[in-house]
Amino acid sequence: MTKTILITGSTDGIGKLAALKLAEAGHQVYVHGRNADKLTSVIAEVKAVATGAAVDNINGFVADFSDLNAVHKMAAEVNKKLPKLDVLINNAGINTTASAMTKDGLDVRFVVNYLAPHELTNALLPLLKKSSKARIVNLSSAAQDPISYKAFVGQERLDDKDAYAQSKLALTMWSMDLADTVAADDINVIAVNPGSLLNTKMVDEAYGEYWSSADKGANILTELAISDEFANDSGKYFDNDIKDGAHGDARGEFGQPHADALDKEAITELERQTQTVLQSLSA
Ligand SMILES: NC(=O)c1ccc[n+]([C@@H]2O[C@H](COP(=O)([O-])OP(=O)(O)OC[C@H]3O[C@@H](n4cnc5c(N)ncnc54)[C@H](OP(=O)(O)O)[C@@H]3O)[C@@H](O)[C@H]2O)c1
Repeated sequence: MTKTILITGSTDGIGKLAALKLAEAGHQVYVHGRNADKLTSVIAEVKAVATGAAVDNINGFVADFSDLNAVHKMAAEVNKKLPKLDVLINNAGINTTASAMTKDGLDVRFVVNYLAPHELTNALLPLLKKSSKARIVNLSSAAQDPISYKAFVGQERLDDKDAYAQSKLALTMWSMDLADTVAADDINVIAVNPGSLLNTKMVDEAYGEYWSSADKGANILTELAISDEFANDSGKYFDNDIKDGAHGDARGEFGQPHADALDKEAITELERQTQTVLQSLSA
């Protein structure tokens, strides 16, 4: 069955590859990026490989996720344009950067990797509820470190590695909680480490080497999005690193996220701090 799928951060890397694969398989794919020109050319590339009735409807949205106002604006556009949403892949992410702080004084990793998908998803829940069995796929990482709330609210600076790992744990903690919240609406939520050091721009900029192909990450995103194999999985963490070492393209399996992602008190504290930050931004 044709699915309507929105993939954030699909102007590059594994998000773009997944968009191409899903459109080629006949699904109605909506892409997203922060750069309008890059998005326009990706829409053309996706249309060129798309099959089925969805070809004419391939489209996209522009929003810089380091600005939560832009995220909210995009959510309003998506809600207006789409009749329903079957799959949301929260893939946009940032690791190393020359400008670590947003204009609001927050670390850009916490904003792009956690607060933006948190806000986008909450705003799109009405659309996801219109699907018969929607899926949300959140891009976690093997890098997950306990959150410093001083850093989270912008009162402490972190290095790139720590900021990235803390933002990814925040996303993973929220994912486990969201799965409980939306269970009654028949929406599945999976957090996924797509594989470590996949061959993408992010990894090249952060490490200058890679262990596995970008395709490995795109393949697991595609499967988590549409495969019947995952129809009944929710509130779980898929670890696409292989057990005997992270190198190679073999698929991983469901595993354990960082302990904080399974700790109700830690998750409650994250949501409390999240609401405080969001309120300070809207004040
Ligand atoms: N590659 C890996 O080994 C690996 C491992 C674990 C987890 N992940 C996660 O997988 C996801 C995709 O990573 P990737 O390796 O494919 O990275 P990538 O090639 O750098 O692609 C990242 C995507 O996110 C977009 N993006 C970045 N900052 C943004 C912002 N401020 N607003 C809107 N969009 C923004 C990028 O837009 P531009 O095209 O404009 O740059 C691009 O479309 C990320 O969440 C990453 O953390 C990757």
